[in-house]
Amino acid sequence: MNNILIVGATSGVGECIANRLQDTHVVYTASRGTNARHSSKHAAWNAVQEAFPEDFLPQRLDGLVYCPGSINLQPFERLSEDSFREDFEINLLGAVRVLKASLPALKAAPMASVVLFSSVAVATGMPMHASIAAAKGAVEGLTRSLAAELAPKIRVNAIAPSLTETPLSAKLLRTERQRIAAAERHPLGKIGKINDLAAAANFLLSSEADWITGQVLPIDGGIGSIRKFN
Ligand SMILES: NC(=O)c1ccc[n+]([C@@H]2O[C@H](COP(=O)([O-])OP(=O)(O)OC[C@H]3O[C@@H](n4cnc5c(N)ncnc54)[C@H](OP(=O)(O)O)[C@@H]3O)[C@@H](O)[C@H]2O)c1
Repeated sequence: MNNILIVGATSGVGECIANRLQDTHVVYTASRGTNARHSSKHAAWNAVQEAFPEDFLPQRLDGLVYCPGSINLQPFERLSEDSFREDFEINLLGAVRVLKASLPALKAAPMASVVLFSSVAVATGMPMHASIAAAKGAVEGLTRSLAAELAPKIRVNAIAPSLTETPLSAKLLRTERQRIAAAERHPLGKIGKINDLAAAANFLLSSEADWITGQVLPIDGGIGSIRKFN
């Protein structure tokens, strides 16, 4: 069975990815909280504070998914330098830390796959997104650079979601009005579901995606690329 490390599997997309893989893969998880379902293979790790515990990793890692992220939407005037630093820490540097620690194990696999998370707000400019778009833009740069550096044995791709219903986005979807407005902004008339992102991540991890690397896959209800005329 393939070994997969999912950082951030206590909630949201990471939890769904772990649930979908657990019967067919050996799933390792890491996050600040505990993960009862995968407790024997769970490392307590704060991505913004410490190096990843290398001794937790198996010798061979076939897949790595880094899920921690942020949605810090504010006008540029209100975004402090610290806000930019915090978004950069959790979205980019946390991923860099676990990637550095995991590289020997990823190299030991015949073909490994890394999946990172970006945002639709990188390729499509959106108001209030300066800090998160800057941090996720760095994730996209990392994705393509590492894909080039680590080919042909390690594939590196990212998923760029639009608004998806998870604990992270709950504050943006508190009222019925917010939910309807968010759905209507998307050409497909709805916001994303956790499964929409988990299915894409599981595809990128699988051998079905063996000829895909250096890509940023938009999973966004069409909002990043098409307009509807009324
Ligand atoms: N949801 C959306 O609308 C949306 C839109 C665009 C992009 N994205 C991106 O998609 C990815 C997944 O988002 P999600 O909505 O599934 O997020 P989520 O529900 O907040 O889940 C994040 C996971 O990461 C872990 N985590 C958070 N901070 C951590 C830290 N400092 N150290 C270690 N683990 C940490 C959390 O576990 P603990 O709390 O136990 O640490 C949790 O398991 C993120 O990168 C996000 O930026 C999401």
